[in-house]
Amino acid sequence: MKIAVAGTGYVGLVTGVCLAEHGHSVCCVDIDEKKIETMRQGISPIYEEGLSELMVKNRERMTFTTDHEEAYQDAEVIFIGVGTPEKRDGSANLAYVYEAAKQIAHTVKRDCVVVVKSTVPIGTNDRLEKLIRREQKAQVKIAVASNPEFLAQGTAVRDTMHASRIVIGAEEAFARNVMLRVYEKFDAPKLVTDRKSAEMVKYASNDFLALKISYINEIANLCELVGANIEDVTAGMGFDSRIGNKFLKAGIGYGGSCFPKDTKALHWLANSYDYEMKTVKAAIEVNENQKLKMVRKARKYYEDFAGITVAVLGLTFKPGTDDLREAPSLVNLPIFLEEGAIIRAWDPIGEAGYRRLYPSEICYCETIEETLKGAELCLIFTEWREIQEIQPELFVKQMKKPIIIDGRNCYPPEVFKGGQITYESIGRETVCGEA
Ligand code: UGA
Repeated sequence: MKIAVAGTGYVGLVTGVCLAEHGHSVCCVDIDEKKIETMRQGISPIYEEGLSELMVKNRERMTFTTDHEEAYQDAEVIFIGVGTPEKRDGSANLAYVYEAAKQIAHTVKRDCVVVVKSTVPIGTNDRLEKLIRREQKAQVKIAVASNPEFLAQGTAVRDTMHASRIVIGAEEAFARNVMLRVYEKFDAPKLVTDRKSAEMVKYASNDFLALKISYINEIANLCELVGANIEDVTAGMGFDSRIGNKFLKAGIGYGGSCFPKDTKALHWLANSYDYEMKTVKAAIEVNENQKLKMVRKARKYYEDFAGITVAVLGLTFKPGTDDLREAPSLVNLPIFLEEGAIIRAWDPIGEAGYRRLYPSEICYCETIEETLKGAELCLIFTEWREIQEIQPELFVKQMKKPIIIDGRNCYPPEVFKGGQITYESIGRETVCGEA
């Protein structure tokens, strides 16, 4: 089928590439000339495992353009995968979605289905359809379908190629049938429903996962107070298949471009209906508090951070991505910097983004060894494999004072017992070093 995709961020580009892999002919549109040029050369503008390989493999079925008319006019299906950033009040900014819809309405010349992949508040698909009907130039049939995305960064290609489910929200047989043809070759359970329910599936799923994380982080906080071990607790919970053993990893809170935004957006939406979602509100508050745990734990060792050399391992919101949006490091490091700490940081791929924010305030190191050199405190924000593989001796050898605050529980506390290292993690006992 002839498919166009508006927006080449994580959602748009990965969708386009995976649709091409299943034999569709895909044209990706973006307003960013530089990005389009990069993709034309077969290079992915984002880091995502397996994406570049698939882009190269499906080169013949993929085109990239900034000319939306060229992309939309004869497409059978047009996916909208543009961003829906958070507004100041927590609601979703739909300006890019509406802009794409208008361009589609002005340019399509054949019957087609406009598919909303971007995460949009419930009711947006209905409004988009009205907007398109009002603006459309050609006398053709244009249907709007909701098809939320469930991919996670770092595993985006796998999550799309082997989707847990494909949710299609459509109001008419034409759209439903076209969508089922799009996904014919995808081996995944398919749920066909109305558009509002499809939109709600997305928010309800993400907010439930965010809630699960905030819940387990609160249990971890309590474990610290009462002397229990969060990992044993979650292992015990996970045997119950009603709870499941996934997404129960305690840490310094969720970040990224989805959970923080989608929890706030649903809370805001409920408010606009004069209903308060107390559980979602709690998930948001717990998370904001949790992110600051690193600073709070560090204060136990240093009242203020002036002149303290701090080694920072990991900057991104999770491993496998260079994305820094809502990363806990971005909440904590400004406090250390403001108080005059000397920060040495390492991240395998998140450094470039950080350099744009802090070009000279942070010393970026090429290796973990170099980062730890002379440090009086080590903060771990991301559980990159290289960080998990560090042997305790390295901290002792390189650091001036081996105090580690591990926000991602990268090591079992036992390995530090009886040694010189002071090791704090989340929801587990603190090991005091015998320095
Ligand atoms: C998330 C969802 O997992 C996807 O299903 C969804 O499609 C996506 O949002 C989206 O809406 O686009 P993503 O934000 O890429 O994906 O990342 P996750 O792997 O879900 O991690 C989010 C945050 O939660 C990270 O900061 C991670 O460290 C944290 N997390 C995750 C925990 O603290 N504990 C866990 O057990 C799991």
